[in-house]
Amino acid sequence: MLNERILSIQNELQIAEIESEEMLETFRLTYLSKNGVIQALFKEMGSVPPESRAEMGQKMNALKTLAQEKFQQAKSKLEGVQSDSFRAADDISIPADPTPAGSLHPLSITHRDIKQIFYRLGFTIADGPELEDDFHNFTALNFPPDHPARDMQDTFYFENGAILRTHTSAIQVRGMEKIKPPFKVIGPGKVFRVERPDATHEAAFHQLEGMVVGEDINVAQLISTMKTLLSEIFKRDVDVRLRPGFFPFVEPGFELDIACQLCGGKGCSVCKHIGWIELMPCGMVHPNVLRSGGIDPEKYSGFAFGLGLDRLVMMRYKIEDIRNLHSGDLRFSGQFV
Ligand code: PHE
Repeated sequence: MLNERILSIQNELQIAEIESEEMLETFRLTYLSKNGVIQALFKEMGSVPPESRAEMGQKMNALKTLAQEKFQQAKSKLEGVQSDSFRAADDISIPADPTPAGSLHPLSITHRDIKQIFYRLGFTIADGPELEDDFHNFTALNFPPDHPARDMQDTFYFENGAILRTHTSAIQVRGMEKIKPPFKVIGPGKVFRVERPDATHEAAFHQLEGMVVGEDINVAQLISTMKTLLSEIFKRDVDVRLRPGFFPFVEPGFELDIACQLCGGKGCSVCKHIGWIELMPCGMVHPNVLRSGGIDPEKYSGFAFGLGLDRLVMMRYKIEDIRNLHSGDLRFSGQFV
């Protein structure tokens, strides 16, 4: 009889399903507490004939262990972790670790991909601070004092005169202070402008600056570098257009637009019904900029570009609103692999 009761409890344990905290507690009270059914079996040991006691004892202990294991397993599962004593290697029927795997943010994925492309093209990485001074953000980039071009970029000013950099072009200036031509650098970073946020604008966003300086650098090289970058990122042909653009630090200056990837160029709210997205302003480095970086413009020339990283990511993954990128919402950022 005792044997049968052991068997029936064993059966119960094997099929028991514990899916909530309450069920876990009921399980504990039923099988593992002092008044539980297993403890009750031990109490009956006195009536077992001496020759069977050892065997019965073993069976009861095994039953108790089974109940304890079941309890631990269910507890860990409910807590969302698998306890060390219960690894899948011990029991392959245990469900896999429920902790979700992390994932990279689409900005990080694209940033990494772009770095790889530029490494292959022989570029190195330059850096600079987000809190800048007027010289590196404006003056050295050929923005004369009080020139209206300074208003093109609405700037966050601090009382001590420091500013939040409005573009990664400040990294060009930092780069020229450290390295001598010929060089090819990229400078990725966060930039800040007083903007009212909408689907394509944020007050803090990301740019990736590029600068190539050497002898006989020309517009054709600029365009071919842009094309290489875009075809590697999109892995297909995308329509682009180049139009004149004004920036004090380049001459000639261009705007490189990409056909809006969300509407295929037909026009939608993201491209403001134009069909094109401004992606990569660029141009030939102005002689004054080279000069303020200590580079002789008679000997060297260069090109520069300022890639809008957030917009590139939006076009690459067909994301409709830049604010998603900065939302910190894991349901959004976990979708990209
Ligand atoms: N720094 C410019 C901007 O953010 C973009 C740019 C970079 C233009 C390099 C030309 C060359 O508006």
